[in-house]
Amino acid sequence: MKGLILSGGRGTRLRPLTYTSAKQLVPIANKPILFFCIESVVAAGITEIGIVVGETADEVRAAVGDGSRFGARVTYIEQEAPRGLAHAVLIAEDFIGDEPFVMYLGDNLIAGGITSLVDEFQELGPSAEILLAEVPDPRQFGVAELTENGRIRRLVEKPPEPKSNLALVGVYLFSSEIFESVRRIKPSPRGELEITDAIQDLIDRDLWVHPHKVQGWWKDTGKLEDVLEANRIMLDTFDTQAHRTWPPGVKVEGRVELGEGVELVDALIRGPVVIGAGTRVENAFVGPYTAIGERCVLKRCEVENSIILSDCEIQDIPLRIDGSLIGRNARIVKTDFKPKAYRFMLGDNSEVGIT
Ligand code: DAU
Repeated sequence: MKGLILSGGRGTRLRPLTYTSAKQLVPIANKPILFFCIESVVAAGITEIGIVVGETADEVRAAVGDGSRFGARVTYIEQEAPRGLAHAVLIAEDFIGDEPFVMYLGDNLIAGGITSLVDEFQELGPSAEILLAEVPDPRQFGVAELTENGRIRRLVEKPPEPKSNLALVGVYLFSSEIFESVRRIKPSPRGELEITDAIQDLIDRDLWVHPHKVQGWWKDTGKLEDVLEANRIMLDTFDTQAHRTWPPGVKVEGRVELGEGVELVDALIRGPVVIGAGTRVENAFVGPYTAIGERCVLKRCEVENSIILSDCEIQDIPLRIDGSLIGRNARIVKTDFKPKAYRFMLGDNSEVGIT
């Protein structure tokens, strides 16, 4: 079997971060989402992986390389524009050949990996296997309608009036029969070749599409609140304790992972927390569910339930920072200039919440 991971697209819901960076490289517990995908594909025994890339191709290549650090061989497949998930399949045909493959959306995270699904697909031998999960608002997903005996009746992409609460999860298993279907479908009203329509075409051709209901958690990390939740869930799986003797004034409680050269001075770190190499925390509190990148400086501030990317500086902030996602190289500092005022330099589509 081969793997196809989708890391193109635009990431509009995570702007401004995605103006400068691929959404699949946003770190969850200090690891890019895309790396979780690659690792779970490799864990399922699939080492021949194609990654579909778009305008952020250079950054994805720089992060993933040839795949050897994951024990995989990665081939990059350039998509000139995000023309849809089925379009990504279409352009991957040369790479896939006539082997079955798993397609993994590079912004999705699934608890427990995909090994048992790959095994099930190989055992049952359907034309395709799709994953379904119950969600509170199915309108933002592909939605499946099942018959009384649990077979798929219809699949519809982002229906305004969903017929069920079963969303399509971003992991799909396909035999090479999918290629004929992606060639048969037409672009949807949003102008994309939808994988949902291609799978519906398999069903219309009387081919067997096996639905598998996902029991554990699953996240499409398209939006800020989903990224923060995925971060909390991942940090909760940590079992590391930073067993070190700390100088007076430093307290490290619970599950805390500290990178090389992290400096703590008069600090309270309450896990689960991960702090990247070379970061300095001084006179500060870092509370549960926080991931801080490399080379940051946090002084006289309090942060919890947040993701802070590398090279940030946060100093002298009177209120606790909570539920925040702060991009690379950002500075949040107190200034003593007159007049006493807030001073912002924010990228397009930034969001600031002030109490
Ligand atoms: O997350 C699950 C949902 O993913 C499914 O329920 C939907 O049926 C499916 O269409 C998809 O919906 P999204 O609107 O969330 O897809 P998005 O545009 O975010 O793309 C998913 C991933 O694929 C993302 O990592 C970007 C990448 N991509 C997307 C497109 C449209 C590409 O590489 N190329 C593309 O042309």
